[in-house]
Amino acid sequence: MKYVVINGSPRKKNTWKVVKQVEQNLDGEFEEIHLAKENIPICHGCHNCIMEGEDKCPHFDIVNPIVEKLKNADGIIMTSPVYAMNVSALLKNFIDHTAYIFHRQEFFTQKALVIVTTAGAGHKKVSKYMDESLRHWGVNKVFKITWATGGEELPDIKSIDKTAIKFKKDVESGKLHSPKLGDIIFFDVWKAMAFKEDGIPADIRFWHETGLVNHDFGPEVKLGMVKKLFSKVMFKILKKVI
Ligand SMILES: Cc1cc2nc3c(=O)[nH]c(=O)nc-3n(C[C@H](O)[C@H](O)[C@H](O)COP(=O)(O)O)c2cc1C
Repeated sequence: MKYVVINGSPRKKNTWKVVKQVEQNLDGEFEEIHLAKENIPICHGCHNCIMEGEDKCPHFDIVNPIVEKLKNADGIIMTSPVYAMNVSALLKNFIDHTAYIFHRQEFFTQKALVIVTTAGAGHKKVSKYMDESLRHWGVNKVFKITWATGGEELPDIKSIDKTAIKFKKDVESGKLHSPKLGDIIFFDVWKAMAFKEDGIPADIRFWHETGLVNHDFGPEVKLGMVKKLFSKVMFKILKKVI
């Protein structure tokens, strides 16, 4: 199994301690991406990635190799300390550079583990935001570990191990989980947008060229009858409304 760690902490301390504990429970190859070392400039807000294609981002040469590594991972480990009740700027800047993936989802077969540490507050909210971002990429299942240090030196190792083992088993099983209704709705929103005459050119190209427009969700993910029907109805409504 291949695991890629995308580390949103600028130092190797509390959050890194949890990463190292998690790694002890996983078998496979690990690649560490430290966003602090990647020097990704702040997103300019040019909209090029969204409107014209990710290759038109002025920071494509830095961002794309990271995205490619994540695409090739079986398991993604995304980490951040809580900064002012949110993710670190390092991680937020990276997520901003992946906003185009929210429109053009590609991670349907990947599982992820979110790791958040904090002095005392914000960890639930921040891990929820990271979970949502990963789901907007299309990620199939997200596990979460949070540690409110309260000044302690050591995290709750037993509870970290428990979640890490669940993550490992899920990655190794190759099993793809049925999506939440909210994930299906987002899929259908972007699919419907691909039929809009004055829609976003890069999105229209992607949805038609990949053939995703012919699916009710990520092609690798099996939907039961009810969710299939839900997706079809949702798409019809959204296509009309949009
Ligand atoms: C700039 C900054 C902002 C922080 N904001 C919060 C916060 O809003 N709430 C909180 O409980 N802890 C906050 N902390 C504490 C860190 O979240 C906590 O120490 C975390 O475990 C640090 O992780 P690290 O060792 O990987 O850097 C902040 C720390 C820094 C440096």
